[in-house]
Amino acid sequence: MAISYDRPSRSWHLRTAHTSYVLATGVGELALLHWGKALSDEDAIALAGLPRPPGPGSSWRRQGGDELAEYGGPDLRLPSLVVEFVDGTRTLDLIVGSYFLEDDSLDIELADPAYPLHVVLRYDVYEDTDVITRSLQLTNSGTEEPIRIHALASADIRLPERASRLSHTFGRWGAEPQLERVPIPEGRLEFDGRGGQTGHRAQPWFTVDDGTATEESGETWSASLAWTGSWRLAVERLVDDRLHAVFGMHDLDFAFDLQPEEELATPEVALLYHDGGFGGTSRAWHDHYRQHVLRSDEPRPVLYNSWEATYFDVTFRGQALLAERAARIGCELFVVDDGWFTGRKDDHAGLGDWTADPTKLPGGLDPLIDRVRQLGMRFGLWVEPEMVNPDSDLYRAHPDWVYHFPSRPRTELRNQLVLNLGRADVREFVWSTLHGLLTRHDISFLKWDFNRPVTDPGWPDEPHGNPQRLWVEHVRGLYDILDRIRKQHPAVAVEACSGGGGRIDLGMIGHTDQVWISDNTDAYDRLSLQNGYAQAYPVATMVSWVTGSPSFINGRTAPLRYRFHVAMTGVLGIGDDLTSWTDDELVEAAGLVEEYKEVRDLVCQGDRYRLGPLPAGVEAIAYVDRDGRGAVLFGFAHGRRFGDARVRVRVPGLEPAGRYRVGAGKPISGRVLGAYGVDLELAGDLASVMLPIDPA
Ligand code: GLA
Repeated sequence: MAISYDRPSRSWHLRTAHTSYVLATGVGELALLHWGKALSDEDAIALAGLPRPPGPGSSWRRQGGDELAEYGGPDLRLPSLVVEFVDGTRTLDLIVGSYFLEDDSLDIELADPAYPLHVVLRYDVYEDTDVITRSLQLTNSGTEEPIRIHALASADIRLPERASRLSHTFGRWGAEPQLERVPIPEGRLEFDGRGGQTGHRAQPWFTVDDGTATEESGETWSASLAWTGSWRLAVERLVDDRLHAVFGMHDLDFAFDLQPEEELATPEVALLYHDGGFGGTSRAWHDHYRQHVLRSDEPRPVLYNSWEATYFDVTFRGQALLAERAARIGCELFVVDDGWFTGRKDDHAGLGDWTADPTKLPGGLDPLIDRVRQLGMRFGLWVEPEMVNPDSDLYRAHPDWVYHFPSRPRTELRNQLVLNLGRADVREFVWSTLHGLLTRHDISFLKWDFNRPVTDPGWPDEPHGNPQRLWVEHVRGLYDILDRIRKQHPAVAVEACSGGGGRIDLGMIGHTDQVWISDNTDAYDRLSLQNGYAQAYPVATMVSWVTGSPSFINGRTAPLRYRFHVAMTGVLGIGDDLTSWTDDELVEAAGLVEEYKEVRDLVCQGDRYRLGPLPAGVEAIAYVDRDGRGAVLFGFAHGRRFGDARVRVRVPGLEPAGRYRVGAGKPISGRVLGAYGVDLELAGDLASVMLPIDPA
C-alpha cells in the first residue's frame, strides 16, 4: 500500500516511487511534515516525533493547519474555504476526526462541532509517477438550511520556506503559453483565469524551486489544477516565513448554497515533487499524463485543418480540392473548421444552428465525408457547442438560454453569447445535437472551441435561487457532455480549443485527446509557445500546424522545411491552402510527413529533453525512447552570425553500452553520444535539422 498510518504519532505517510508526503495531526489540526525525497516509514514516524514548529504565537492553534486554511481563528492566511451559516456565522472551526484508507487513497475528515458541515480532505497517490492529487469534498449534513460557500479552493499547499522562485506560463491571444520564472515576493503573487474560462493570460500550473534549480538538476515542487473554469493561484509569504499557496476555483463572484445533504467536490490539484531539475519535472508530468490522464498514448493522426486556407468560405468543391492535396501529402484526418453550418458567412451568424449550410454544401455533409473517406482519411468538424449568435434560429427560439441579467444589455463578444450549460434543457440540447451529428455522419473528430468568456453571469430562475452556481455548473455541464461523447462515441477524438489556447489545463486535457495551444502558427514564435506548453503539459496532445509563409500573424517568411520541423515536434498538422503549393512543395511536404510518421512514436511517447546550454539563437530538443532504444534530435537556429554553423549537442537518456547510428554515420555508443554528443549544422536564419538516432 502506498499509504500507511502510525497510531502513536498520529501520522500518515503517503509514498510514491521516489517521494514522500508526511502528514500528522496534533491538537486537532493537520501539519505537513515533509513533501520531498522518499523516506522510510521509520524516518516518517521519527519526523512526526520531533517538536512541531509553532504557529504564529505559540499558544495559537492552527485549526485545519497546513492542509486547510479555513476562514476563522487567529491565523490570517488567505483562506481557501469561507462559508456562511444561516444564522450569519461566517467563521469555521474544523477539527480533524476520523480517516479512511483505501488502496491508494486517503480521506481525512474534519467537522465543525457547532455546525453540520462535513469536510473531507482527499488524497490519491499515483505511486509510479510520483503524483499525489488532492481535493476537498464538502457535505451539508444538516436537514434544513443551506450553507453558503463563499470561497472553495482545492488545496492549501504548504511549500518549502526556502522556495524563492516560481515558474509558470502566461500569455494573451496569439502569444500563449510562454514560460517565465519570477522571484516569489514578500506578500502575495497571484495568477488567475476569469469569466468561466481557463484563459490566455495564465495557465493553472506552477513550479517552485529554491532559485538554484537548472534544466538538469535541483529540487522542484509543482502543482497543476484540473479545472476548465475560473481559477486562482495565490502564493503568499506569511509573517513567520511560511510559504502558502491557495489553488483552485476562483472566489470571484463565487457563492454556492450547499443544500441539505448536498455534496460539493472541488476539482483536483495534482502535486509533483522532483529532484531532477526543470527538465526532469516536465518529463515526470508527461509521464503522469501518459499513464493516468490520457485515455490512449497512441500518437494522434497527422491532420489537415481548413481554417487558414478558407476561413468561413467553405464549399464542397474547395474542401474537396484541399482534401485531395492533403491525402496526397500523407494526412490521415481532414478537419473542416468554422464556416460549414447554416448561416455562417462570417462570425456574425449561425452558432447554434448545427446543420450543414445547404448553400455551401448542397448535399449536406455526407458527400464531403464520402470524398474524404475515399481518399483514405478520417473526417473531423469544428464546433463551438457552448455558444450562440443572436442571429440564429436557436437564439430566436430560446433567447432565455444564455447567461444574462434581464435588466442589462447582453454583452456580445465576437458577436456571440454563452449558452447556460447549467440548465438541464440546454445541456440536453447540446448533447443531443452533437450526438445526432456523430450518429448520422461518419465523423471521427471534433475541434471543440470556446471563443469568449462569460461576462453577464446572470441565471434568472436558477432553481435554488443561487445563480452563482453557474461557475461550477457550466464546467460540470462541459465535462458531462465530453464524458458522454467518450462513452457513446469512443472512436471520436476531441481537440480542445478556446480562441487558440484559452483552455489549456489538466481538466480539459483529461477530457479530450489533443489541444490547440495558440492561433499563432508562425513557426519561429511557435517554438517558444511549445516550449511553454511542454513544461507541464504532454507533447502527445500538442497540435501544431504548418501554415503559410509569410505568416498571417507577423509577416515572417520561413522555409517549408523549418515550418515542418517545428510542427513535427508535436502532433503534426497542416493548415495552409494546399492548392497554392507547387508540385515541388507538395513532394517535399509528402517526404517530411513520411519522416514524421517514422519518428512520431518517439515524439509523442518518448522523453523530451530541452538540450543546452547552446549558443544564442539555437534551440535543440531530443525525444528519447523511454528504454533508451533510439532518439530523434531537432535543431533550430535564428540569427546565427559570423559564419557560425556547427552546434554540438549531447544526447541524454541512451543506453551507455548501446550502439547507435546517427544519420548515415558509423555506429557510436550511447556513452559517447551522452558525453561528447553530435554536431548539428545550423547556420543563418530559420535553419532547422531533424536527426534520427537509431539502434545500430
Ligand atoms: C478560433 C480558433 C481558430 C478557428 C476559429 C474559427 O479562433 O482558435 O483555430 O477555429 O476560432 O472561428
